[in-house]
Amino acid sequence: MNKAIIAEILKEYEKLRDLAEKAYQKRKDEVYAIIPRIREIDVAMAKVSIHASKSIFDNPSDSQFILKEMEYSIKQLQQEKAFLLTEHNIPVNYLEKIYQCSNCQDTGFDRKGKKCGCFKQRMINYGYRMSNLNQVLEKENFSTFNMNLFSDQVPEGEVVSPRENMKEILSLCESFVHNFDHTKENLLFYGSTGLGKTFLCNAIAKALLDKGYLVVYQTSFNILELLERRKFKKDSLPLDNFSYEMLFDADLLIIDDLGTEMTNTFTNTEIFNIINTRLLKSKRTIISTNLSPVEISKIYSDRVSSRLFGGFNILRFYGKDLRWER
Ligand SMILES: Nc1ncnc2c1ncn2[C@@H]1O[C@H](COP(=O)(O)OP(=O)(O)OP(=O)(O)O)[C@@H](O)[C@H]1O
Ligand SMILES: [Mg+2]
Ligand SMILES: [Zn+2]
Repeated sequence: MNKAIIAEILKEYEKLRDLAEKAYQKRKDEVYAIIPRIREIDVAMAKVSIHASKSIFDNPSDSQFILKEMEYSIKQLQQEKAFLLTEHNIPVNYLEKIYQCSNCQDTGFDRKGKKCGCFKQRMINYGYRMSNLNQVLEKENFSTFNMNLFSDQVPEGEVVSPRENMKEILSLCESFVHNFDHTKENLLFYGSTGLGKTFLCNAIAKALLDKGYLVVYQTSFNILELLERRKFKKDSLPLDNFSYEMLFDADLLIIDDLGTEMTNTFTNTEIFNIINTRLLKSKRTIISTNLSPVEISKIYSDRVSSRLFGGFNILRFYGKDLRWER
């Protein structure tokens, strides 16, 4: 594991905790200014615990009683505080520190001292140099999805309009996210360029990242580059081994633009290996591609294509290139 990267990630956590602390202090000062009694309550609560520790130290045999008394006093104070806040229309959790990750409180480690999922996700992002992912996900997600971009005219040779088709796809994607823990479903998006395949990959990635799942999002070209660096043992990058493991272990693997990589026996075998291993482990995968099922079966071996067609829900995108529509 690359120490410099770990140090970098730990520094990021430090910054996050710092931000959480500052924001919390700011909210606290605000509240103190509006309701001075709250400051007194906070001081009193601190005193109660210090007092209790002292008493227990002096009379260890009374510890049960002292603790009960302390709990009682604290509860009273908390109730008064909650009452005051509510009375002033301030949400009770306004005076709690808000971390980006509530599981590890932005330390990177959970209560048992194990690496938190968010730590692993940061390593994934580093490994795949996905540091700009956040910016993309702010723009392309379910809440920015614009159905009006899709034409409501039925094109020649089709039965439903691109908009109707997209409504269907969107609802399948939403239920994919919703039922993520309960189904073994995989998705294959195919269609020509500029139809919103990558957009939906991003939307799903963001929704699942927000729920705390580990997501690897990568183009098949980059994945193949990683596989080749490992195979030929040259130009290796920090975290390559970790990134490789995550292709198999991430809760969701999104392979964008399958078919842009060069296909030879090596890529065929490797892609099969990844997809197959994930299917066997019931780990979910999403593939987006410009290739039609017929083209896929021509380019990839029978093993890969039959895996794809058997284990994936195949969704066809059609309509006009959105990049020209705007
Ligand atoms: N549902 C949507 N709401 C708003 N904007 C969208 C939506 N779908 C796609 N777009 C925008 O349209 C453009 C093309 O979409 P996208 O990149 O997802 O196409 P694609 O199908 O992945 O194309 P390619 O096959 O070339 O990779 C992007 O700028 C994207 O932000
Ligand atoms: Mg795309
Ligand atoms: Zn965490």
